[in-house]
Amino acid sequence: MTYSKIVGTGRYLPEKILTNFDLEKIVDTNDEWIRTRTGVERRHCVAPDETTSDMCVEAAKAAMDDAGIVPTDVDMVVIGTTSPDLIFPNAATLVQHRLGIPACPCIATEEACTSFIYGLSIADKFMRAGEAKCILVVGAECITKLVDWSDRNTCVLFGDGAGAVILKPSDEPGIIATHLGADGQYKDLLYYPVGASKDLHKAGTDEAAIMMTGNEVFKVAVKTLGNVATEVLEKAGVSQDELNWLIPHQANIRIIQATAKRLNLPMEKVIVTVQDHGNTSAASVPMALDVGIRDGRIKKGQLVLMEAFGGGFTWGSILMRL
Ligand code: UT7
Repeated sequence: MTYSKIVGTGRYLPEKILTNFDLEKIVDTNDEWIRTRTGVERRHCVAPDETTSDMCVEAAKAAMDDAGIVPTDVDMVVIGTTSPDLIFPNAATLVQHRLGIPACPCIATEEACTSFIYGLSIADKFMRAGEAKCILVVGAECITKLVDWSDRNTCVLFGDGAGAVILKPSDEPGIIATHLGADGQYKDLLYYPVGASKDLHKAGTDEAAIMMTGNEVFKVAVKTLGNVATEVLEKAGVSQDELNWLIPHQANIRIIQATAKRLNLPMEKVIVTVQDHGNTSAASVPMALDVGIRDGRIKKGQLVLMEAFGGGFTWGSILMRL
């Protein structure tokens, strides 16, 4: 039996940092509201000419260095993002070419904040099937370019970044279990109103911005993130007491605390980056994983549960031993 195992991680955050105090000068908000309602203190924002693939390339280089591999070792690329550079070619193709990775399957996943979890889960299946031996998986988002900077309900929440992992085959897990789900009945609670074939006249206008009914999303997120964690634990026959770390999607500190409480996990076992990164959508989980590993908290052999929830709604969880 072949399993897949993460052997390297990396992240990239754009240089520009926007604090809550900076936002006080842009919209009618204040540091106290943002911190207490969301947990966010600062977020990174891309430069006007910086793109999602630029960030993916930097995060991927860091992950390849960490894994001790070179681009020619990689035989599959998976990129999870909802803010690709172009409608096509897909983000994975752009990154494969820019890194000098030889021709290989290049897959893009687009499940909003759950895109990385979907991408890693798909990569795991290819590895188990013996169809790839070294996979680059990235979650990245240029989400500040999709936000209406005059809407205080949304602009204070988001940030940009990219997180990458390198996946290799292993005789033992590695990734133990994955669980994915989605329910389109909630499509109107969180969406971006312009695409390639719908409402194109809105592109470039004030209407082209993330739309979110925040408090409704909040309620479903708390319930779903609790359920999705227990589902993957049950699938693997693992008890929550055995978990060393929870790495939840970093949308809101109150959602993270509620999920930890439902799992009976102390906050000391939860990786939290929302204060420094904001909600970086597809990048949030892989960047938090990289933070936890590089600061020495997450150690080899430990049991880690990653989970995410996003527009669609989509959701997913991955249980793994590092
Ligand atoms: O990543 C994908 C999934 N996304 C999420 O999980 C996000 C889920 N939702 C949330 O995190 C929260 O719902 C928010 C942080 C977005 C909002 O927090 P809330 O506690 O649900 O606030 P609310 O939307 O019910 O608004 C409460 C009040 C309103 O004022 P009134 O109507 O009570 O007078 C808002 O206008 O807070 C006001 N408000 C603000 N005040 C200051 C909304 N945004 C701001 C702001 N600064 N930035």
